[in-house]
Parts: sequence; structure tokens; C-alpha cells
Amino acid sequence: MRRLLCLVLLVLPSYAALHRREVPAAFSKPHSVAVDYVNPLIGNGGYSTGGGSGGMIPSTAPPFAMTRWVAQTRQNYVSVSPYNHTNTVIYGFQGTHQPAIWMGESGQAIVVPGAGEVQSVFEHRGMPFHHADEISTPSYYSVVMNAIQGGRILAEQSATSRVGHLRFTFKDTAMPYVLLEATRAQVMGSADPANVTYSHGSIQIDPGRREITGHNPERQDFIIGPNAAPSFAGYFCARFDLSFKGFGIAQNGTIKENATVGSGALLSGFARFAPGTKAVNVRVGVSFISVDQARKNLDKEIPDGTTLEQTAEKTRSAWAEKLDRIQIEGASEDDSEVFYTGIFHTLQYPYEQDEDGHYYSGYDDAIHAGSSYTGYSIWDTFRAEWAWLILLAPERIDAMVQSMLHDYTEGGWLPMWKNIVETNIMVGTHADSLVAEAVAKGFKDFDLETAYAAVHKDATVPPQDDWTISYSDRQQGVGYEVRAGLSSVYAEHGWVASDIHSEAASRTLDYAYDDYAVSVLASALGKDADAAFFRARANNAPFSIFNNATGFMEARIANGSWAGPNAGWTEGDMWAYTFDVVHDIPGLIEHKGGNASFVAFLDQHFDGGHNDHRNEPSHHIPYLYSLAGAASKSQERIRQVAQVNYNNSVNGLSGNEDCGQMSAWYVFSALGFYPVDPVSSTYVIGTPFFDKITVNLPNASQPLVITSRGAPNNPYIRSVTLNGRALDIPVLQHVDIASGGEIVLEMAAQPQAWASSTLN
Ligand SMILES: *[C@@H]1O[C@H](CO)[C@@H](O)[C@H](O)[C@H]1NC(C)=O
Ligand SMILES: *[C@@H]1O[C@H](CO)[C@@H](O)[C@H](O)[C@H]1NC(C)=O
Ligand SMILES: *[C@@H]1O[C@H](CO)[C@@H](O)[C@H](O)[C@H]1NC(C)=O
Ligand SMILES: *[C@@H]1O[C@H](CO)[C@@H](O)[C@H](O)[C@H]1NC(C)=O
Ligand SMILES: *[C@@H]1O[C@H](CO)[C@@H](O)[C@H](O)[C@H]1NC(C)=O
Ligand SMILES: *[C@@H]1O[C@H](CO)[C@@H](O)[C@H](O)[C@H]1NC(C)=O
Ligand SMILES: *[C@@H]1O[C@H](CO)[C@@H](O)[C@H](O)[C@H]1NC(C)=O
Ligand SMILES: *[C@@H]1O[C@H](CO)[C@@H](O)[C@H](O)[C@H]1NC(C)=O
Ligand SMILES: *[C@@H]1O[C@H](CO)[C@@H](O)[C@H](O)[C@H]1NC(C)=O
Repeated sequence: MRRLLCLVLLVLPSYAALHRREVPAAFSKPHSVAVDYVNPLIGNGGYSTGGGSGGMIPSTAPPFAMTRWVAQTRQNYVSVSPYNHTNTVIYGFQGTHQPAIWMGESGQAIVVPGAGEVQSVFEHRGMPFHHADEISTPSYYSVVMNAIQGGRILAEQSATSRVGHLRFTFKDTAMPYVLLEATRAQVMGSADPANVTYSHGSIQIDPGRREITGHNPERQDFIIGPNAAPSFAGYFCARFDLSFKGFGIAQNGTIKENATVGSGALLSGFARFAPGTKAVNVRVGVSFISVDQARKNLDKEIPDGTTLEQTAEKTRSAWAEKLDRIQIEGASEDDSEVFYTGIFHTLQYPYEQDEDGHYYSGYDDAIHAGSSYTGYSIWDTFRAEWAWLILLAPERIDAMVQSMLHDYTEGGWLPMWKNIVETNIMVGTHADSLVAEAVAKGFKDFDLETAYAAVHKDATVPPQDDWTISYSDRQQGVGYEVRAGLSSVYAEHGWVASDIHSEAASRTLDYAYDDYAVSVLASALGKDADAAFFRARANNAPFSIFNNATGFMEARIANGSWAGPNAGWTEGDMWAYTFDVVHDIPGLIEHKGGNASFVAFLDQHFDGGHNDHRNEPSHHIPYLYSLAGAASKSQERIRQVAQVNYNNSVNGLSGNEDCGQMSAWYVFSALGFYPVDPVSSTYVIGTPFFDKITVNLPNASQPLVITSRGAPNNPYIRSVTLNGRALDIPVLQHVDIASGGEIVLEMAAQPQAWASSTLN
């Protein structure tokens, strides 16, 4: 990283700090303080039992890249990422499409440098390395490894969206070679790494073109979800800058010298280079369409003659274009790293799935024209990540909505958790919220009637066999899960029946919010009767499971009896979910007996240790004090949550990044506001973390300047002005943010009366 040694010594010796190194000048162009603050190792560490993790890998790729390149320190599968900082051996460099750590890989390509006897078998090809010999930035990664037969290999990598660029420098080694792995043993599920299947791929070697091409149909999530996607494959075209001295195919450990084609399981191709070769460059174009398309992607994104330095500069520019839009004053070095790394994390997903204006759709197993994105963890990202993309990456929003509508057209439903195709993971049809929020915030370059038909279907058409399938998490052999339970009692009475469906109480609250999103879209399109219908259902459903006797939300079974306080929750409990009525906070406050007792309930929630920020249902809760006339308590809790759950270390994310939602919480909170109810186009004011933040949003004609002098040590708010007008209510409108302007906050060390009448 950028910092000089003297600065390194000023900060806590966290794991990351110990491994900061000066990036070579050639890889620090263009100049960008913001990009220098990104520390790709933050969040690689574990957060819980069961091998979970923050889920982030130190990969190189531009924002929203189709493929991320990362050193492979172990075999990845569901809930296991390809890189773990505790490992000490590198097995290759992986172009991965695994979007979040508990999801499956798909169609990866792996490049393995070596010297001497070709080692294709995973267990035999690992090369030891030290973290001290690693440099990791968003656009450039390098590491020195000990070659198996002696000597050392310096591996350097950068990448564009669809092309990896790797350079291997050999020092004192035997004859260099580079291997491309097409297929490997594919782990089924997450329970047992020994439970594998073998996908059959292909390799072709063309020494004249200096190319190794091939395909890999591995898709670990094929065991779940309704779409078989039988033709799915990752294709690759690797082109070298040096002529081959030799080449061959390796299959299950057997080397066939001079072979140019191969197919089947455990398959790789390799090229050897003349003894004494100093450095080899290889560019690996990838595609979900064909080898030809992978070659086109290569020629388009990193044409022949491009140096690694040039590739890295292009990718660094892409990050700088986003990160330099935000300047902060008064943040510590550690906070700056957490903040800019957070923004880096928010700009990774969903990822591009289209190539040259075409994409492979696994929904109907065909190629189509248009835009496509995948890696949609919508149950997580509808909360704040989407609102953040709308602000910082508005140029992509229309295409992202178009992509969801393509999924609907080709597969019959909007996505829930799309990892190439639908995986049925988590609950609710929150794409309804994404679409409604985009329209509410002014995006319209997609077919609005198709959009409405899609969300209306979510709200009205139950899944297959809705009375007999529980649609439990990762249930195999079922159709689209969508709003499982819609036809049982939800539509009539408001709750999803816990004796019929899994996660019934969470579903009830999620479906209610989704109904509200549908009503917002209906109303934007002038469909007033629909708007009224869905709004009424949205307001009724949550309180149909509010148990007056306990004061908590509680699942019900079909006949209306209570199911018990612990039944029917997903990634949360009765505490978190009782606050989960973001579209009707006044209604919730009323059920809890008014502002004062609602505030007391919030205190019980936090003081009792019930706020679990590692999972999303808790994310909006600290902001709710502000909506009950107790803003100073929001300010206090937000700072605590930020401090406990985010820091500048490999373990610096307390929960799974969840495709950007964990970091979107932090970034919004640092700015001083959060989209508690994203579809409403409002934000609730929290407490900005720094003295001054200047944001140049792409669509704003002027900067958004948030001045909060003294904020790092003074969390409480004495007063707020918006463009010179005093603000008494802790709520901002989307236009106030999106069009830029000036927010000035007077900060204080002690709780203040501002927006806190309930506490007086
Ligand atoms: C890395 O390995 C450690 C030790 O096994 C584990 O606690 C952690 O969860 C792993 N991290 C990732 C990214 O899987
Ligand atoms: C392997 O995983 C598959 C898919 O989850 C499962 O159906 C099968 O029972 C597992 N086999 C063994 C031997 O555990
Ligand atoms: C690989 O080779 C081993 C023997 O060396 C054999 O037992 C195994 O079945 C082979 N695997 C595949 C997938 O062909
Ligand atoms: C491979 O081809 C080269 C060049 O034609 C030849 O010298 C070598 O003997 C061949 N190797 C094998 C194992 O066939
Ligand atoms: C914002 O700007 C982009 C171009 O940068 C444009 O595509 C988009 O439609 C704009 N609209 C809104 C509502 O932000
Ligand atoms: C809870 O009490 C309110 C009135 O206090 C009543 O209208 C509502 O029906 C009750 N809800 C349930 C689920 O019993
Ligand atoms: C509902 O069913 C449960 C379990 O079968 C039973 O205990 C309960 O009495 C029933 N309640 C009503 C209201 O019928
Ligand atoms: C509760 O607090 C909110 C936010 O300050 C306020 O708008 C509302 O009027 C209060 N409700 C009552 C009943 O005082
Ligand atoms: C960083 O946060 C993690 C996860 O919350 C925590 O385990 C760790 O102790 C924190 N480290 C520091 C240096 O604060």
C-alpha cells in the first residue's frame, strides 16, 4: 500500500498494517489517495463458527467485474473462499465468479505457474509464500513464491472485467511453464469437501497463436435452484507473449507431451518456455458464451502489446473514478482505510454477465442481446447497498433493472438470489423493492409495464405446490420459491403459516414490505386501485403477527394459533424482527405503546445484547430512535455499532459482507444518514463520523458537502442545517442528497435536545 514506514508505525499493528508495503511506482498511477486507502485484506477473516467469513478476498478487478483474480490458497466451494490469509501455500491464480462466500463457484479458470516437472494435481502444485512478500491493491497484486524444484517465482496480476493479466518472473528456477486448469473435483454443497463430482471440460492448445483455450462447466450451485442451465460453462482463451518451447495436456496427473486437445475431468493444458526465460505474460479472456467470445473479450479489453502496468493503470483509473468522488477530512488512517475499503466492497456486486452486448441466460439456456448482471444477494442488498449504487453508480442502474426484467422474461420471475441463475436462497421478493426504488428515484430506461407485471406477479402468484412444499433454505428439487406461503393464509389474513412454511414469521414481514414496494410502484404508474390494495395489505400483515400479550412479533400456524417466540425466523430472532416494519414505523410505535415505551424497548434491545449487526435484519434498528423523538440515542448506538463491527484488520468485518450490504451500512452511517425505508426515497439522519465529507455524485450538478466539525470525538448533534435552512426533523429526502448541497451539523460531546423531544 501507499503509506511510508513512518506512517505505518503510527497505527495499530493490525494484521493488515503489518503487511502494508510500498506499491511500485509503476502501479501507483494515476495518483489517488482514496484508492491507496483501500485494503483488500479487510474482511477476509472469519466471523463465526462453521468456517464463515467476512467473505472478502484480496482480488484484482475493476468495479462490478465479471471475473475477479485472486491467489488460490485452497479449493473454494460453498462457504469456502479461494483465499484465506491463514494459509501459507499458493496453488495458482483463480479467475473466480464466486460472488459471496456461502455461494457456489461457477466456470472459473485457474492459471498455475511452475518450473521443471509439470505439476497439475492440486495437492502437488502448491508453492509456499509469506504474507510479507505480498502486495495487494484493487488493481495490482503480487507475491513471491518458492518454486517446487528450487528458485522463486514472482507472480503479478491485474485484470479488466473479462480478462486477467498475469506476469510471472522466474528466478533461479528450472524450465518455466504455465498451466491452465479447466476442470477439477467439484465439491458438492458445503458439508463435506470429500463429496465431489467431476465436471467434464475441454482444452485446446494452439502453439501458433500462443494460446491455450478451453471450457469448464463447473457450477457448484447446480444442486439448488429451479434452473438447470444445462449449457452453462466458463470459457477461456489464454494468450502468451512468448512462443512455446513445449506444451501438452495433463489429465488426472498424467502428462501427455505435445498433445493439443483434451477433454474430460481433472484436465489442464500447459505451455513450457525456453530455459532461462525471465518473465512470461499471459492474458486470460473469459466468457460465458464461447471460446471465440473469450478471445474477443481479450482482444477488446487487453489487446496484444499491452503491458501489465497499462492494464493495472486502467483498472486503478476505474476505481479512482468512483473513490475520488468522496473526500473525507478528520478521519484517522485506520478509519480512512475502513471507509474507502467499504466503498470498494460496495462496488463489486452485482457483476457484469454480458459481453459485447450479449449474454448467456441460464434461465432459458440461450444467448440474448442486452445487459445482464449476476451476483444479486437481494435479501441483503435491498436495504442500503442498492440505495448506495443509485447514488454512486447511477449509470448502471437502468441496465441492472433491465437485467432483472430479462430474468423475469426468460425464467418467469424476478431474481431473489441470482448466482448465474436463481438459487432460491433467503426469503421475500425484494427485487420488488429494487425496481420500485429505482423508479421512485427517477430511473426509467426500461419497460415500466413489464416491470409492473413482474412485481405484480410476485405479489399475487404463489409458487408451485405452495400448500405442500415448505421451501426451506436450499431445499433441493423445488421450483421458484418466490413468495412461498402467499396462498396459505397470507393473502387472506396477513401471516404465512408456520406449520406449512419455513421461516414463516420473517416471510410475513418481508412480504409486507414487498407489498408496500409494489404499492409504491403502482402509485408511480397511476394504478391507484392496486396501490391502495397492496398498501393496505402491507400495513395489515405485520401486525397480524404482533402478539399483544408479549409485545413481540411471533409466527402463527395456519389456524391462527401462535407458533412460539423462536419459530419462523431467518438470520435474526424475535428482537430484531419486531423492529422490521420499516414502511410503518408510526404503526409499530403505536403497537409498542407510543414513543417513550418504544424508546425503552429499543434500549432493552441494545442493552440486552440483542442487536446482531452481523446479520441484516438489525441494520436499520439503531436509526429507529430518531423516528421516535430520541435522535441522540441513535447517534450513540450508531457509533458503537460502527466501532464494534468494523475495523482495519483481516477480521475487520464482524459479519459476511453480503455483496456490499455490510459496507453500505458503514458508508452511509459515516456520511450521517441511512435509508431505513429505501423505497420511500428518504434517509434518516444518524451522526456523521468525520469533520467534513465532500461527495461529487455522478448525477449532481454540485457537490454534497457534509460539514460536522469535531465529529470524530463528538457524536451528538446540536443542530442541522440543509442548504442554510434549519432542519428540525431527522429526515432527509433523496433529492436533497442526490442533487448535492450543503449539510452543516453542529456536533457536541454530550446528548443534545435536537430531534429528541421524547427524552426531555
Ligand atoms: C480462514 O481460516 C480460518 C482458520 O481456519 C477461519 O477461521 C476463517 O474463517 C477463514 N476465512 C475465510 C475467508 O474463510
Ligand atoms: C453429496 O452431496 C449431494 C448434494 O448435496 C448429496 O445429495 C449427497 O447425499 C452427498 N453425498 C454424500 C455421500 O454425502
Ligand atoms: C484419477 O486417477 C486415480 C488413480 O490414479 C483414480 O483412482 C481416479 O478414479 C481418477 N479420477 C478420475 C476422475 O478419473
Ligand atoms: C514433442 O515434440 C517435440 C518437437 O517436435 C519433440 O522434440 C519431442 O520429442 C516430442 N515429445 C514427445 C514426448 O513426444
Ligand atoms: C444519472 O446519470 C446517468 C448517466 O451518468 C444516467 O444514465 C441516469 O439515467 C441518470 N439518472 C438518474 C435518475 O440518476
Ligand atoms: C392487539 O390489540 C389491538 C388493540 O389493542 C387489537 O386491535 C389487535 O387486534 C390485537 N392484535 C392481535 C394480533 O391480537
Ligand atoms: C390450532 O391448531 C393447534 C395445533 O393443532 C391447536 O392446538 C389449536 O387449538 C388450534 N387453534 C385453533 C384456534 O383452532
Ligand atoms: C413520536 O416521535 C416522532 C418523531 O419525533 C413524532 O413525529 C411523533 O409525533 C411522536 N409521537 C407522539 C405521539 O408524540
Ligand atoms: C476488529 O473487529 C473484529 C470483529 O468484530 C474483532 O474480533 C477484532 O477484535 C477487532 N480488532 C480490533 C483491532 O479492534
